[in-house]
Amino acid sequence: MSGDQEQSARLTRREMLKTSALAGAGFSLSRLGFDREWLLPGSVCSSKVPASAGTMMEVKFRGYDTVRVGIIGVGGRGSELLRALLPIEHIQVRAICDIVKEQVLIGQKAVTDAGQKEPHGYFRGDHDFERLCSRDDLDIIYIATPWEWHVPMALSAMRNGKHVALEVPAATTLEDCWALVDKSEQTRCHCTMLENRCYGHHEMMVLNMIRDGVFGNILHGETAYIHRVHGLPVVNEGEGLWRNFPHMKRMGNLYPTHGLGPLARYMDINRGDRFESISSVSSIARGLALHEVARMPAGKSMRKACFGREINTSVITTATGRTVTLQHDIIDPRTYDRLSMVVGTKGAFRDYPPMVCIGRPEQDAWTTLDVYKDRYEDSLWTGVRGCAGNPCRHGDMDSIMNRRLIQCMREGLAPDIDVYDAATWSASGPLSILSMEKGGAPVQFPDFTRGKALSLRA
Ligand SMILES: NC(=O)c1ccc[n+]([C@@H]2O[C@H](COP(=O)([O-])OP(=O)(O)OC[C@H]3O[C@@H](n4cnc5c(N)ncnc54)[C@H](O)[C@@H]3O)[C@@H](O)[C@H]2O)c1
Repeated sequence: MSGDQEQSARLTRREMLKTSALAGAGFSLSRLGFDREWLLPGSVCSSKVPASAGTMMEVKFRGYDTVRVGIIGVGGRGSELLRALLPIEHIQVRAICDIVKEQVLIGQKAVTDAGQKEPHGYFRGDHDFERLCSRDDLDIIYIATPWEWHVPMALSAMRNGKHVALEVPAATTLEDCWALVDKSEQTRCHCTMLENRCYGHHEMMVLNMIRDGVFGNILHGETAYIHRVHGLPVVNEGEGLWRNFPHMKRMGNLYPTHGLGPLARYMDINRGDRFESISSVSSIARGLALHEVARMPAGKSMRKACFGREINTSVITTATGRTVTLQHDIIDPRTYDRLSMVVGTKGAFRDYPPMVCIGRPEQDAWTTLDVYKDRYEDSLWTGVRGCAGNPCRHGDMDSIMNRRLIQCMREGLAPDIDVYDAATWSASGPLSILSMEKGGAPVQFPDFTRGKALSLRA
């Protein structure tokens, strides 16, 4: 069977699975492939389960009436997550931890303002999160702390029998990516990553279109994180306290998952395909220096000798022969962009503004994504009004992401983003650094699924 024939056979089988979902007015991701009807047992997730090396792929949550939540880190991002969680029915925020007591107090007030009982506060230093993790009345722990804390906190949560919802990137080294996979498999606790860009209005709609074969056989994607977060003077609060430092030590793509997550889902990564290799190069660094000369008093910049390279570009290949370009630029003057281009044999999508091109060469023309809205807008977005602008507001996708995660937990579904996705998408960071150290030579992705990713080809 040729590649194209094989792909159309896959699509046909998929389409059969989806016929009933398509019959309704809305098109729902929740009915399209993530909650496959595989009869795997619900996740036990307990500190008492014996060691097990079984996969966590497609393992369903056991089903919860009320989801009891703890949160570690309520700075900029943790506070946003808390705001997105509180309006959701059937959740209780039981515990909040941050090293800054005032942040905990603000979080506690937000919870009581929402009509819930005051959550217990933990603010006795760097390791007080361990007391939160050891509580026996939590089902899932959200973690929104600086990167270096993600893995120790997630491991502690799983060791204590709690599911984990971890901010991006889940981990910054390959060893830590494996540590998350191993611990999740041993404890049967899920470790999902809070990649909110997978829940954007356009991303969900394009995924529904891809799954319905609108773009044909997917061949290539182009994505990026272009966000001038470090084009500002050094700040002494919030993430400015920590987010510059990793860039002083490491050169490569340190924030890959916002772009890569949605593309990985378009390409069935870990569900029939897998990322195989990455080659990464970076441009010379001139922009930050220019900026600093203009703004910083002489000799005052702590970043002057750092950020040795500026715009990082990687090429990723997949096991079935697809390609991805992934860029990272947090310094130079461009408007916020993730590019979000995906190209298939029948058409292409690209974002900012969202445009679709479908058809034969003589018909080539970009049309607005809106044309496809009636048929392909995900039902999770139906009635969400905040999306008139472009791109959709952060808060809307955060709200959809959290609703979906709580839905999976309550209804006993597998999480959309599992520990293998968290590890694979995050691993592109350290692998880009490794490739740069080898002069841009390709380096191989580990197969965190231990061989299962390709066995899932439909
Ligand atoms: N998904 C997104 O759109 C998005 C957006 C921004 C940030 N993030 C991610 O969220 C995470 C947090 O970023 P942020 O911008 O909120 O940073 P932040 O500095 O504003 O908040 C981090 C919080 O963690 C607390 N903290 C630090 N060490 C701690 C410890 N040992 N125990 C308990 N609390 C501790 C800090 O006091 C702070 O309140 C990062 O991983 C970042 O990459 C994601």
